[in-house]
Amino acid sequence: MVVIKTQNLTKNFGDVVAVDDVSLEIEEGECFGLLGPNGAGKTSLIRMITAVSPSTNGEIWVLDSDLQSHSRQVKAVLGVVPQVDNLDPDLTVLQNLLTFARYFDIPKVEAHRRSMEVLRLFQLEDRCKSRIRELSGGMRRRLLVARGLINSPRVMVLDEPTIGLDPQAKYLVWHKLTELKSQGVTQLLCTQNMEEASALCDRVAIMHQGRIMSLDAPAKLISRYVGEVVWEIELNSEERDKTINGLESHGLDFEVVGDKIHIFHVKDDELTSGVLDWRKAMRRAATLEDVFFRLTGRSLAE
Ligand SMILES: Nc1ncnc2c1ncn2[C@@H]1O[C@H](COP(=O)(O)OP(=O)(O)OP(=O)(O)O)[C@@H](O)[C@H]1O
Ligand SMILES: [Mg+2]
Repeated sequence: MVVIKTQNLTKNFGDVVAVDDVSLEIEEGECFGLLGPNGAGKTSLIRMITAVSPSTNGEIWVLDSDLQSHSRQVKAVLGVVPQVDNLDPDLTVLQNLLTFARYFDIPKVEAHRRSMEVLRLFQLEDRCKSRIRELSGGMRRRLLVARGLINSPRVMVLDEPTIGLDPQAKYLVWHKLTELKSQGVTQLLCTQNMEEASALCDRVAIMHQGRIMSLDAPAKLISRYVGEVVWEIELNSEERDKTINGLESHGLDFEVVGDKIHIFHVKDDELTSGVLDWRKAMRRAATLEDVFFRLTGRSLAE
């Protein structure tokens, strides 16, 4: 069953096309990753899907409801973790959760029980009486994730949930998201952390300049764009030109990255072909980050 569907979705801000004709389908129970450089349009896409910001063009369905005419029902089943912290700094941790629970018409006693439960999950229960301004950045982020669970959502939409978290807290969030997935909760996860996307996502879409450049399972993207391994070699300027010529004449797939050359899709028999001194090269496993660079380039977008 398709849980989130967008068709020809577009968002303009004046002359800026933040999201450009995006059509995608997210299946029930999957963790769907959204990757892309700063300004790619990820948050703009997420804000439309979560009915926070209107689309310029196109359509969105969540659990078969058309978002435009059923935004209230859709919001009730969504757990949203926004990129920008919108906690109320003057209220305590618990008051923030209780206030949030009211949007979902959760009765008071139940809201209190749920609040303490989600605080426990993210090891924040002893901070329940702290004001938001007294929390560290990482605690706030954990609280934002906890808050997204208050309505026991069927679908979670998370915009960079682990940014700024220490490794312990990051693993705690990963563990919780994995657990939710095993309970059938569908997830749309926007992240800049390639390890996170590889670890958690069944499929990822790589976005660039408002468009989806590619969409597939992480392992499939890696094998399509990079191959299973990457060879890296650092060369001085004389060796470099000769090596580049050699690589080109052998039709090898490579990229010059600063002082290094990255070589992709290498088959073992090419190692002895005399293109370069392979003993000087380092062999490593290909990652989603390699795919990311290949699809979106290495220069800053803005
Ligand atoms: N409220 C707004 N008003 C005007 N332009 C906006 C607004 N929000 C986003 N934009 C523009 O839309 C484009 C996409 O921004 P968006 O925040 O969706 O990117 P992103 O992929 O989430 O980036 P990041 O990784 O930095 O969070 C950018 O060019 C941005 O400047
Ligand atoms: Mg963003």
